Amino acid sequence: MCGIIGYNGKDNAIPIVINGLKSLEYRGYDSSGIAYFLNDKIKIIKEEGRIKKLEESLTNDTSNLAIGHTRWATHGKPSKINSHPHRVGNVTIVHNGIIENYATLKEKLEKDGYVFKSETDTEVACALIDNLYKKTKDKLKTLNKLQEYLKGSYALLILFEDSRDTIYAIRVGSPLIVAKGSNGNFVASDIPAILEYTNKYYLLLEGEIAVIKRDSIVFYQDSKEIKKELLTFEHDISSAKKEGYSHFMLKEIHEQPTVIKNFLEYYLNNLELIPDLSKYKKIHIVACGSAYHAGLIASYLISKYGDMEVSTYVASEYRYKKNFIDNKTLVILISQSGETADTIASLRLAKEYKATTIGIVNVVGSTISREADEVIYINAGCEIAVATTKAYTLQVLALSLFAFKLGIKKGIIKGIEKEAIIKDYLKLPKEIEKILKVDYKEYAKKIYKHKSVFFIGRLIDYCICEEGSLKLKEISYIHSETYPAGELKHGTISLIEENTPVIAVVTDKNIADKTVSNIKEVKARGAYTLVLKNKSLQLDKGIYDDVIEITNLNDLALAILAIIPLQMIAFEVANMLGYDIDKPRNLAKSVTVE
Ligand code: F6R
Repeated sequence: MCGIIGYNGKDNAIPIVINGLKSLEYRGYDSSGIAYFLNDKIKIIKEEGRIKKLEESLTNDTSNLAIGHTRWATHGKPSKINSHPHRVGNVTIVHNGIIENYATLKEKLEKDGYVFKSETDTEVACALIDNLYKKTKDKLKTLNKLQEYLKGSYALLILFEDSRDTIYAIRVGSPLIVAKGSNGNFVASDIPAILEYTNKYYLLLEGEIAVIKRDSIVFYQDSKEIKKELLTFEHDISSAKKEGYSHFMLKEIHEQPTVIKNFLEYYLNNLELIPDLSKYKKIHIVACGSAYHAGLIASYLISKYGDMEVSTYVASEYRYKKNFIDNKTLVILISQSGETADTIASLRLAKEYKATTIGIVNVVGSTISREADEVIYINAGCEIAVATTKAYTLQVLALSLFAFKLGIKKGIIKGIEKEAIIKDYLKLPKEIEKILKVDYKEYAKKIYKHKSVFFIGRLIDYCICEEGSLKLKEISYIHSETYPAGELKHGTISLIEENTPVIAVVTDKNIADKTVSNIKEVKARGAYTLVLKNKSLQLDKGIYDDVIEITNLNDLALAILAIIPLQMIAFEVANMLGYDIDKPRNLAKSVTVE
């Protein structure tokens, strides 16, 4: 969602901030803007659309202090007037998050004489800061008071026109980092924005305020100055660059053999670091989007190998329903960003009911990683493409190891079976490399012109289909749906016409015959059928138009291998259609609002 960057230093801040905004593009946005000091006055330039448009509106100005923003519309449509920075009186701000009580605040501020130009909650927050500052005449007091008034989540960068040398930053609910460079200091919503200049950063925590000057950074919590640890971002900068690939998504798909190999080498040698699930009575897995699909796969694997009750929930539902959580429940939260608003809310709810919580997270230091009782980092490195690939497969792998360890503990997996499973895990990197050599354009050609695509599968294959279908629709904008294969004839089969693409996943040999019958049903009605199956399954050639075969592995590993062709098909289809694959329309990488 919205991206924020600020720079205060010796160099020209304008290109640095524009550069930073470009590195944050992956978060998703519809407009952008910049504010900088010019001759002791703040100048604002903003535009609807891509950052390129903002660049075209820039003049030759130079400045040593600037803040910038990419907006993902929540309150008010994407437009120049609604985009950030917003200015009211002495105050100029950029904001990520949602001010939930903005309507009430707006009414009060209007009574005090404030007139609003935009439809945004941000302009209201800006007016409130101006109003409080007029009363307190003290910037820190103003920002402390602000927290009493604002409800919701906000990461704010604030410039006061009478304070030419300072950026103020405050974080409640939405992430912010403050970074220390050799020629100046930075503040940003995510690390890629500053990586070109420095890898030394502080993590701003809930309610903290940073006062950022050219050569100093001071932090405050509850009006008191605090000391914070300077952290180092360990991944190298190449993880935020395309490195010769046409798209981040393609690069991230191809990184999977390496990140999976690293993860396996570490955890298979240190299985004691994988949580012991046998202590709990029941397990809830909670997540959104692709992370939810990883959770669906996990519920099959953990119940099969661990003989345990596991349910997977969409976080935006879980946080509002009755869940029967108690102190014997384990709640696993899966989130690449660790900042997804609904997943965070579910984590806090689980903690209220005294459940144990484990986060499976990529972004180090993110809210979920800090608030969960235990955290397993998937170590995928930066994932820039909005559509997740490598983080998703690592989430599945982490949970697969949970199931594996539980199976061993309960004596369900033992002896040669255990050794065979380890061998299969270790085959994954090479098998993925092999399957990435297939030319997926051949299949994409048969799909990209269609309006609708259907994915079918049963049990774990159904869960794999859910992720394959999401990948396809989010980047190609083709309507795509997944059905448990047996459900099709309860209504949906009426949509199958001559050449409608149906992608069937058949990796589970125990249920293969049933899925095959369903493939025959759609084939008989004219569908183009593409079957993704494991090599050892013998299928009658007449049932499919095309087939992709993957090596037969134990399902603890196979679930990871099977998604790779579907990621590639989605990529090739979107590429043929010429879409902006890394930044699909309307989507944001990190969904920090409800
Ligand atoms: C889809 C995708 C999203 C995310 C979802 C959760 O490709 O990336 O569906 O999986 O928004 O995000 P995290 O994992 O950051 O909580």
